[in-house]
This record gives sequence, C-alpha cells and structure tokens, in this order.
Amino acid sequence: MVLSGKKILVGITGGIAAYKTCELIRLLIKAGAEVKAVMTPSAKEFVTETTIRTLTRNQVYIEQFPVRNWQPEHISLADSSDLFIIAPASANTIGKIANGICDNLLTSLVTAFKKPVILAPAMNCNMWESHFVQKNVAALKKAGFCIVPPESGELACGYEGTGRMASVDKIFNFVEEALHLEPNLKGKKIIITAGGTKEPIDPVRFIGNRSSGKMGIALADAAFESGAEVSLITTVDINKAYKVTKVDTALEMLEATKKGFVESDILIMVAAVADYRPKTVAEQKIKKENSDSLTLELVKNPDILMEISKIKKPEQTVVGFCAESENLFDNALKKLKEKNLDYIVANDISDPEIGFNSDYNAVTLIDKNKEAVDFVPMPKKNIAKLILKGIVDD
Ligand code: PMT
Repeated sequence: MVLSGKKILVGITGGIAAYKTCELIRLLIKAGAEVKAVMTPSAKEFVTETTIRTLTRNQVYIEQFPVRNWQPEHISLADSSDLFIIAPASANTIGKIANGICDNLLTSLVTAFKKPVILAPAMNCNMWESHFVQKNVAALKKAGFCIVPPESGELACGYEGTGRMASVDKIFNFVEEALHLEPNLKGKKIIITAGGTKEPIDPVRFIGNRSSGKMGIALADAAFESGAEVSLITTVDINKAYKVTKVDTALEMLEATKKGFVESDILIMVAAVADYRPKTVAEQKIKKENSDSLTLELVKNPDILMEISKIKKPEQTVVGFCAESENLFDNALKKLKEKNLDYIVANDISDPEIGFNSDYNAVTLIDKNKEAVDFVPMPKKNIAKLILKGIVDD
C-alpha cells in the first residue's frame, strides 16, 4: 500500500466540494494512510462531523480551545502528521493562511505546520479570478505551498468557469508525490549548473536568456538537504552553505563544470547555455551614433554536455534538462541520445505558469530506456526532490 505508515491531516473548509473530500479520505485510507481530519466551523454546514469521524475512524478536530489534555492541539497535530491537505480550500481560508491569521484550529494548525501543505481551492469562478484571491494564492505558492489548480466546468452555484475543486484522483496524485520526496544522497558528490549564461557584446551589453536559476538552485538546495556534497555552478549571485562558483559565459561554465565533474558522482545540467556567442567583444561601449544598423557575428559555443560525455566514466550519472515549447518528448529523447545522457528532464515551457522564472514546474523524467515519469505542477523544490529521488533510487 503506497501510503502505508503515513499520517495525513485532512483540512475541510466551508464549501460544497466538501462532499468530495469524503471520497478523498476513503482513497487515502485505502492506500494505507492514517487520516485525521480538522474542520472549520463553516465546514460543518456542508458535511457532518459524524460522516468524517466514521470515514477517518478517528476523532474530528474542530475546536480551537478544547479541554482534552494539556498540549495545544494545533501544535501536537502539526508535529505528528507527515502532510496537511486542505480540500476544499475556500477563498476565506486561503486569505487567512496567506496573511498569517489564526482564528480557528485549521488556520492555527497550518501556520504551525512545517511539512508539505497541499491546498485544493474550490469556489465560484468570479471569486477565484478576484485580484485578492489570486494575490493570496501567489503568496502561498511563493511560500512553498502546493496548489492543486481548480478545474473548469459547471459550478454548484450555476456558473460555468474555473473554480471547481480538482478531481479526487488528481489531489491523491499530489499527495502521493509530496510524500515520496526524500532522496538519500549521503556520500554523493553532485554538481549542478543553474541560470542563463551571459555572452558579452561590449562592456555594457550581453546576449542572455530568461532562465532565473530557480530550478537549478532548488535542485542544489534539495541535494544539500538530502546529505549530498553539492557544488553549484551558476550565473546567479548567491551565497549558500554549499560551494557556489559564479560564472557568466558558456566558456566559463564549461571550464568550471569539467573541472568539478572529475571528482563527482552526478552532474545535473539545468543551466540554459547560450548556443552562440559574439565572435568578438567590443572593448568600448558600442555607440549608436556610428551606424543605423548593427550586425553581430556569432560563433557556436561548445556543448558542455557533449564535452562531458567524452570524459564520463560508467559509474558517473549525467542528467540534462530540455526546455521545449513543442514536440517535448521527441526532442528530449533526441538530446538524451545525442548527448549520451543517463536521464533527461523534459520541461514544457509553453505554459507561462511553469518553467522559466516561475516558482513552479512540471516535468517528465526520462531514462535511457525511454521510461518516463511525469511530475505534475508543484513548487520547484518538490520537483527537485522527485528528480533526485528518481535518479538515485532507480
Ligand atoms: O532557471 P529557471 O528560470 O528556474 O528555469 C528553468 C529552466 C527552464 C531553464 C530549466 O528547467 C531547463 O529546462 N533548463 C534547460 C534549458 C535549455 O537550454 O535546454 P536546451 O534544450 O537548450 O539544452 C539541453 C541540455 O544541454 C541542457 O541540459 C543544457 O544545460 C545543455 N547544454 C545546452 C547548450 C550548450 N551549449 N551546452 C549544454 O550543455
């Protein structure tokens, strides 16, 4: 049973979708999880405490100040659970969590919760589209909360639009993925590249791209937290508890990566490396008065992964990333083969909600045998853990 031994806290807020949460609880229990439920006072308007108690086979937690034992319930429940899933998450509760308001047991609990939190919003489409709800959802995403996007269709209030709680199966997938996150990387040496290279034109200008470095840094953070010795080679200016080498150009990244790779077990190339660079770099700032047009001659940069494949030993693992806006799977397979990779992470960049510069991503991890695993949209840190786990547990 996939969730054997896992302790899951299910939060229910006031929304008609609460009836679907009964089915979610049933699925979680069937998968082996121990489920406890916490309800807001409004949730009781939609499902009864008796229903939830019977389904969870546990006491239901509602009161913020119960007189049961000396321990504050919002702390003991938070400490003893592996994951908190709030479904449905109403606009009201989303707003409270995003603003640190703790005026009932559920909102107090989530504020004290240190492990993964998943929210499945459900509300009227106009409420979902409201500036305030979107602002609160964005703040929660940024803080690392996982949001299961609501779906479009006919809503209970009679409207058509986006706001319906995601299907129970979809929410279950999020739970499953969030709980299988911790890779064991003790004793492993990992090099990760991150960010977009900058190819200088003159002392002021460069050719760059939209990579923020977030995905690569999330991988480096996750690898470090999982016990690896991490070396991050990046175009982003940051300080970390692990080794960081700052580079700008593809050539600098190539040199640093080759040097570090010799000593490493795993290389993950997340960086968006410029395929071309200006043939010559002007010593002085190019002045616009000199001409009405400007032609830059570009020369091809070396392919870092191709260079690495020449020195790779069989026991070393090399992972590439592939950002594509079309034919994702076929292009990824082509690069996996051409660059002699052990894995490729295919990243669909056609959706602005994921990929470049977003805090979220959704990717497919593909191995040499073309075996592929899809990871649904979630914070980059969670995606990072799943990628690492996929690589080391294979
Ligand atoms: O940084 P973020 O804003 O978080 O965005 C993350 C991301 C979208 C940049 C990242 O998830 C991603 O997809 N990175 C790969 C981007 C890319 O340029 O892919 P590519 O298809 O051009 O290259 C394929 C692989 O070859 C990559 O691993 C790349 O690092 C590598 N490469 C590319 C060119 C080159 N000269 N040398 C290389 O080694």
